[in-house]
Formats: sequence, structure tokens, C-alpha cells
Amino acid sequence: MSEDNYEHIKVEVNEEGKYAVISLNRPDKLNALQVQTVKEVSDAMYSFELDPNVRCIVLRGTKDFTKKPAFSAGADLSASFGPGVKPNVPIHMSIAMDMRHRYYNLIEEFPKPVIAAVDGYALGGGCELTLVCDIVIATKRSFFGFPEIARGIFPANGGTIRMARHIGLARTFKMIYFGERVSAEQMYEWGYVSFIAEEGEEFEKLVADKATVLGNSATTSLTVIKKCLKFGTEVPVSVGLQFEQLGFGVNSAAGDVKEGITAFLRRKEPEYKGY
Ligand code: COA
Repeated sequence: MSEDNYEHIKVEVNEEGKYAVISLNRPDKLNALQVQTVKEVSDAMYSFELDPNVRCIVLRGTKDFTKKPAFSAGADLSASFGPGVKPNVPIHMSIAMDMRHRYYNLIEEFPKPVIAAVDGYALGGGCELTLVCDIVIATKRSFFGFPEIARGIFPANGGTIRMARHIGLARTFKMIYFGERVSAEQMYEWGYVSFIAEEGEEFEKLVADKATVLGNSATTSLTVIKKCLKFGTEVPVSVGLQFEQLGFGVNSAAGDVKEGITAFLRRKEPEYKGY
């Protein structure tokens, strides 16, 4: 494992598993998010964009929690909105939200698989951060929710827009209107959480196993799949199918396709190189 220097996050690379772990590292604030935090997450991710040895990202809360385990308790309520942003000027607040959207969007668009590994609270902007990941793995003690309504605000980091697409309007209305915390087990039953485990070793092993599988897969295929699923499903089927056709063409040029098919014919395990 190697480390980089960021202020709000910690970055480690698992060379063997071919994935990077980005940990939100503000344990005294339950990993509350500032614009700087999501910018650092996005910067760290994109530093691996062309790196064939890092083919999957795990985004999580720090293992070294000081108070309560948390993925993130959402927007940092103790922080200002950013230099020059005046909270009493409505357009400044819209621009402040636009800045956050930019980084959430960049994280969502990252072309390799991103796993949200959730242990503890995933609230507000923290829950919204899981929404821009591809796969959510959670411990049974975790909770997801939007507490914003209790503070007279609302989940504007994509919460109202993205969550309904996953769990449906009725459940999302309930979560947001009543600020309800939903257990990981419930989110698993609703299909939002893909894998669930007891906290500790079982969770750590599950996350490492899934990241290793994706980290050793054929990256171009995964990129094309991600674009088709995330963006091809937002347009009419006839247009989405065009994504598949073009993506199929792009993927066919990847060395990993040759490796996958040759390995099958030779009855051996493929060794994908990530391009
Ligand atoms: N922003 C800034 N600091 C936060 C925070 C946030 N969103 N969430 C938690 N913290 C800090 C607390 O101020 C506290 O710091 P302190 O020990 O120095 O006082 C520390 O994290 C632990 O939080 P605490 O409230 O004592 O833990 P808890 O287990 O009793 O409650 C929560 C946990 C998450 C339910 C509660 O902290 C909470 O409601 N946080 C705000 C969540 C929220 O509204 N998010 C959306 C923001 S738009």
C-alpha cells in the first residue's frame, strides 16, 4: 500500500488487487463533506484514470474512526460555503451548489468501477455520494438517510433526483419528507445495497474480494458497461442501443477481448491487462 497527501482524504493502492481505496478522513466530524472533500475525492480518482494497475476504486469512511463509524454524515454544517459565497445572496447559493454538483458528477462519470463501502452513517451528502458510485457494499449496522428536512433544507447534491431512480418515488418521498433513516438491510431488500455483511473482518473481506474481482477484470468492457448503464438508460431505448453498438465497437479493439476469448479456447484463466 502507498499513500498520497491530501487534507480530507487518505489514498492507498492495493497493487495486488489492482484497486485504490479512497478514505474520507475527517473522523472527528463523522467524515462531513466540504467542497474540498469531494474535490479531493474526484482529484484522487482521476489520478488513476489512465493507470492500468488501478482498475477499481473503493470509496469509504476511514477505518480509524474516533467517535462513531461513518461513511459520511453529510455536508459539513460547521463550514462556510466557500470563499466569496454570501449565504444571503440566492444566486451565490445556487453557484455553491453547482460547485458541489460538478464534483459529484465527475465522480459519477469516472470511467472505472467505483464501490461505496459503507460502515455506519451515510446521511445527506454522504448518502448522495453513494448515489454516484456503481456498487454499494454495507455493514448491517449502517444507515442511509436524508436528515436535511430537520434543518429546513433539502438533499440538493442529487438526492431528490438520483435516489428515486434507484428505489422509486414513494420510498424516496418517505425518506426525504420524514428524514427517515433506512437500515442497510432494508436498502439491501430494496436493491440499493448490493452486498451486506457484519462489520469488521467479514465486511473488509467482502469489500476486498469484490474490488479484486473488478480490479482484475477487463477494464474497457467495464467502462463501456458503466457508460451504457449510467447514461444509456437515461435516454430512449433506441438511443441507448446506439451506446451499446458504439461501445461494442470500442471494446472490440481492447487487448483484453483477445485475452478473454483466447483463454477460454485454451481452457485457462484470462489475465487481463486493463486495456
Ligand atoms: N457537519 C459537521 N459536523 C458534524 C456533522 C456534520 N454534518 N455530523 C456530525 N458532526 C460532528 C458533530 O458535531 C460531533 O462533533 P463534536 O463531538 O465535536 O461535537 C461529531 O461529529 C459526532 O457527532 P454526534 O452528533 O455527537 O454523534 P451522534 O452519533 O450522536 O449523531 C448524527 C450522529 C449523524 C445523527 C448527528 O451527528 C447528525 O445529525 N449530524 C448531522 C447530519 C446532517 O444533518 N447531515 C446533513 C447535512 S445537510
